[in-house]
Amino acid sequence: MAISNLQELFIHGLAEMQDAEERFIKAQKQMLSKAGNDTLQAMLKEHIGQTGEQLDQIKNLASMLETSLPQATNSVAKTLVEEGEKLIEQAGDNSALRDVVIAEAVSKVEHFEIGSYQPLIAAAEQMGHRTVAQKLNGILQQEEMTAQKVVKNAPALIKQAQSSKEASA
Ligand SMILES: [Fe+2]
Repeated sequence: MAISNLQELFIHGLAEMQDAEERFIKAQKQMLSKAGNDTLQAMLKEHIGQTGEQLDQIKNLASMLETSLPQATNSVAKTLVEEGEKLIEQAGDNSALRDVVIAEAVSKVEHFEIGSYQPLIAAAEQMGHRTVAQKLNGILQQEEMTAQKVVKNAPALIKQAQSSKEASA
């Protein structure tokens, strides 16, 4: 389908993020069931709740703009989830290593989301959709907080994986 103006590009981007968030909510539930570290588990639980709210908000934004979102496939999100699943599988029973894999997957996902929402916010502002931009900014802040948390927590998980490797060597 051709995209002929900024509004159409914006709606397309929003539809892609709806698909991404739907994939990520499932993936985070899967990761939560495999995570061992308490901080990682708490972060996932909190962000699963936030992601559910974000999906509701994205739907509301579409109705605020008096449109509905077309069916879209976010192939970057799809690949991120598939790659994460594959690595978790490969880490097998090594729970310390699995936690590192999960933290890396969350980090990649959150930074991808940040990079996706930022231009959507700029476009909404440019088109004068102020409330829409504000709501998207709220979502962006949650993604940024989650990204910060996972980046901060990663060194401890990596250290843990290193010492568990030494213990089993
Ligand atoms: Fe997120």
